[in-house]
Amino acid sequence: MLSREQARAFYDRFGAKQDTQRFYEDPATRDLVAHADLKSAEHVFEFGCGTGRFAHDILSHHLPPGASYRGVDLSSTMVRLARERLTPFGERAKLEQSDGSPWIHAPDASLDRLISNYVLDLLSEEDMRLFVADAHRALKPEGRLCLVSLTWGSTPLSRLVTWGWVRIHALRPSLVGGCRPIELLDLLPDTSWRIEHRNVLTPFGVTSEIVVAAKL
Ligand SMILES: C[S@@+](CC[C@H](N)C(=O)[O-])C[C@H]1O[C@@H](n2cnc3c(N)ncnc32)[C@H](O)[C@@H]1O
Repeated sequence: MLSREQARAFYDRFGAKQDTQRFYEDPATRDLVAHADLKSAEHVFEFGCGTGRFAHDILSHHLPPGASYRGVDLSSTMVRLARERLTPFGERAKLEQSDGSPWIHAPDASLDRLISNYVLDLLSEEDMRLFVADAHRALKPEGRLCLVSLTWGSTPLSRLVTWGWVRIHALRPSLVGGCRPIELLDLLPDTSWRIEHRNVLTPFGVTSEIVVAAKL
């Protein structure tokens, strides 16, 4: 898998090309938005905001006018692109570059929604678990952790795509942006989280898992 330094170098180079992945990402992130009850959220945090495309959509169409958004990303190129894109939202939208650690830079029990799309599937097992534990700390009680990631296909075409993807990842992870299929539900013990929504979608043979989990 990619180290943090390799992931930063890759996404610094990849930059705006990230938005070409929308052909398989948009159906999954639309499903997430449809189940994340964003209209009742005041404080929203996104981990791995990329070019700010998702943030622009939710600030324009789904969050209430008073809601604030904070996004972090380890790539300086992504933070710059997201800042430019979110300029019209002024003080409502703040972006920061992170060092790639899995900690959420927010006070305890301060967030209504914590969103991360196609980022956990880049992290090590340990960082994924640290991220989820810190998400639990940073969310308000009943706040929602909203996640989308690559997962394993279950139809003949998507199984073939997953098979090829995993092999490419094993040989040269940068060819697939460092991402590999994971299982989000495995990260969310029912002693700490209530699963409000879970779905698996496979546009163009690429399979994504969508999970909205409430903090208990
Ligand atoms: C596959 S892209 C997804 C971007 C965006 N969320 C989207 O759905 O279009 C992964 C993003 O996560 C960022 N990233 C990778 N590792 C990270 C880490 N450890 N901490 C924060 N951001 C990270 C990358 O720079 C990149 O912007």
